[in-house]
Amino acid sequence: MTTPAGDVLLEVQDLKLTYGSLNAVDGVSLTVRAGERHALIGPNGAGKSSLFATVAGRTRATSGRVVFGGRDVSALGEAARARAGLVRTFQHSSLFLGMSVQDNVRLAVERAGGRPRRPWPSPRRDRAVAEEATGHLRAVDLLDRREALTGALSHGERRQLEVAMVLACRPRMVMFDEPTAGMSVAETYRFVELVESLPRDITVFVVEHDLDVVFRLAERVSVMAAGRLIAHGAPAEVRAEEKVREAYLGRPRSTAPLFGAAR
Ligand SMILES: Nc1ncnc2c1ncn2[C@@H]1O[C@H](COP(=O)(O)OP(=O)(O)OP(=O)(O)O)[C@@H](O)[C@H]1O
Ligand SMILES: [Mg+2]
Repeated sequence: MTTPAGDVLLEVQDLKLTYGSLNAVDGVSLTVRAGERHALIGPNGAGKSSLFATVAGRTRATSGRVVFGGRDVSALGEAARARAGLVRTFQHSSLFLGMSVQDNVRLAVERAGGRPRRPWPSPRRDRAVAEEATGHLRAVDLLDRREALTGALSHGERRQLEVAMVLACRPRMVMFDEPTAGMSVAETYRFVELVESLPRDITVFVVEHDLDVVFRLAERVSVMAAGRLIAHGAPAEVRAEEKVREAYLGRPRSTAPLFGAAR
């Protein structure tokens, strides 16, 4: 099932998530269109990760709905949403550090296809899995590291590998929560290029603190503060809004701009 580019792919409707008396997500509604590169920004504690966890199905919303590809997925768990094409990046813990890079991706391909390893050999199937894994490794520019031990990868390379494993799930939308956190400037640059190189039939929804990355990647930006959506629109529009500047952009930046003047 595909959603034509530009149509709404993800619709979050009046989503609420409370932790005791804290409204971590306080009635957020937003849409992400098919093919879009959409960033979610906001100050620390704004509720971005809470929203992501709820959209991905890791955390059950207190109220509200998540509609993906026209289907209400609110009652589905994380695995079922991933099967529907709504995939959040894997955490580091899901990488097998003692295995080679290509074996991690092969395993992801097998799991995504619902094809657990059988006790008897099937060279034809193994070849198909290996070929698909090679394609994903090429897409994230890790082909020359395929035989390396995963534990020996740099931080940035591990993130690239996680994207290869996400691609194995054949996602319609990938959600990244602070993908460039802890990356060097060079790794960040490389990661942005990787996201830019993803095919347009994969929609990208990203939480990111590095505003140079946001303004380079995103076509639309949503801004949260204190659990609420306070602005959304094109990067230039959002940047011009006073309340956004107050809540977020007004903070002094500690690092020089990575990509120079934002568009
Ligand atoms: N499991 C939890 N239990 C209780 N409170 C939580 C839990 N997770 C998050 N919170 C609180 O919910 C609020 C929103 O947190 P969240 O992590 O979603 O913010 P964020 O926008 O992702 O922040 P950051 O930019 O620092 O990652 C914060 O006040 C946080 O302390
Ligand atoms: Mg967070």
